[in-house]
Amino acid sequence: MIVRQRVDWKYTAILLLLLLGFVFPAAAEDVPFIQFGDRFHPVPGHGGMVVSQEALASRVGAEILRQGGNAVDAAVATGFALAVTLPQAGNIGGGGFMLVHLAERNETIAIDYREMAPAKAHRNLFLDESGNADAEKSRYSALATGVPGTVAGLVHAQEKYGKLPLRTVIAPAIKLAENGFEISYPLSFSFRYARDRLAANPAASGYFLNADGTAKAVGERLVQRDLAATLKRIANQGADGFYSGKTADLIVIQMSKSGGLIDHDDLAGYRVVERTPVWGRYRNYQVASMPPPSSGGVHLVEMLNILEGWDLESMGHNSADYLHRLIEAMRRAYADRSKYLGDPDFETVPVQALIDKDYAARLREGIATDRATPSSEVAPGLPVPEESPQTTHYSVWDADGNVVSNTYTLNFSYGNGIAVAGAGFLLNNEMDDFSAKPGVPNAFGLLGGEANAIEPRKRPLSSMTPTILFKDGDPVLATGSPGGSRIITAVLQLILNVVDFQMNIAEATAAPRIHHQWYPDTVDAEPGISPDTVARLKALGHEVKTAPWAIGRTQSISRDQSVFQGMTDYRWPGGEAVPAEGVNILQNNP
Ligand code: GLY
Repeated sequence: MIVRQRVDWKYTAILLLLLLGFVFPAAAEDVPFIQFGDRFHPVPGHGGMVVSQEALASRVGAEILRQGGNAVDAAVATGFALAVTLPQAGNIGGGGFMLVHLAERNETIAIDYREMAPAKAHRNLFLDESGNADAEKSRYSALATGVPGTVAGLVHAQEKYGKLPLRTVIAPAIKLAENGFEISYPLSFSFRYARDRLAANPAASGYFLNADGTAKAVGERLVQRDLAATLKRIANQGADGFYSGKTADLIVIQMSKSGGLIDHDDLAGYRVVERTPVWGRYRNYQVASMPPPSSGGVHLVEMLNILEGWDLESMGHNSADYLHRLIEAMRRAYADRSKYLGDPDFETVPVQALIDKDYAARLREGIATDRATPSSEVAPGLPVPEESPQTTHYSVWDADGNVVSNTYTLNFSYGNGIAVAGAGFLLNNEMDDFSAKPGVPNAFGLLGGEANAIEPRKRPLSSMTPTILFKDGDPVLATGSPGGSRIITAVLQLILNVVDFQMNIAEATAAPRIHHQWYPDTVDAEPGISPDTVARLKALGHEVKTAPWAIGRTQSISRDQSVFQGMTDYRWPGGEAVPAEGVNILQNNP
């Protein structure tokens, strides 16, 4: 906590200097990041920080830090808590990716706990009798469910890199499920939005809707006893409490009731994989991000490499010159994504070639600065499918310098809407992230998506981009986002805002974003990109439309010496940045 007397004289001094015409960051160690010109400010704190899309879960993580847990303990606690308090995306029935930086070992590890296709899955699983992709089947049926990886991933991380007992870090989630919590406005809104889908499944309806089928309202309590019992089995037995015994039985029973493929062998055979992160260098920073089967890290680094060749700062933030280059870099990276990316345990993914600086330079040379390149001229492949904006990210940092950047998901909001009766949790529809119909020529007669074809036990391609930025070997920023295919471009812009435009993470988060993913050949622009800029982009040949939904919801932490700065993204309400130890920001403002 700030010592009140120290703040008083400091603010007096600041006021004096302001009167003299200076605008500068506050000099002392307590709040070195405050700039008087900034319109938005992150939450400061000491002793570590947790930022997630749901306040109760962030508080759980911060409390674990206070109890002596490290960043991994806090991240695992936050992950299990989100499975209770953010049922639309927090989960134990889905999967994800965790990037862990261990300060003492100076090592960064990518933990892949992505869902796996069941053994009985095959490449034509989602084709109808006419051979066309059946979106209903791949998104809303039990066939859409991949073998969940979340519990294996969180338990793996905790047992290998945490300090506290697993029971301790799951305990807050069990309490939230058993005693219930007050439904927030964003959660009640989300229930209303998903009501019809939840109502279609008796177990989901029982867990998340009222007895009369209406959505639970703000202020009501959400008690989840079956989920609490499942979490207790995990607390007592580790991953076996999910992948074998009662929970596994309940999953398999639900599969046979709903027509899904997952059996006991699939559950027993689920494996977490530790992978080497994708590493890039951008100006004076090192970037660590998620390798395949996520496309996030590869294309983040590919885009940064392309952009590094220009002086972006001199163009001005969100100017047409700047956005044009951003769009052209995005277009080229997403074209590559459609062709080359898949599960590296099944396909040869040319990661090094895609993140090569010379390759980026060649791509950059092909970018005309005075006109848009039509996507049809960029590369062969299949259009990148629209992806659901749901998923959730959280970032954790502890006082010892350990950092966790974690993104996990059910794919769609509430997954396929099917809950496991008796076990209290929803199932993912991640199988839709495979290419349902690879190898079939598109409208231009071009091939693509083969690397992401469905195969038994394969992991579907993802866009999740948990990322840590380093300067001189020390972590300085942890970030990530939900948003389907928009995840990578949201993370990219957050990083550019910090590195090229020297924004604090609150400014960097709030700044309007754009998105282009090669196909459709249109630019999504958030409100706030000026009409003049849009007009200039249109004059260059870009088709620009207002983004149908906000682009990403980054959850970020930066560190400036001893002060942690956390920022949730208010593109969705209800998130919170919670420091282990608060810094007084309520009083004595100058
Ligand atoms: N399901 C969204 C993703 O993995 O990118």
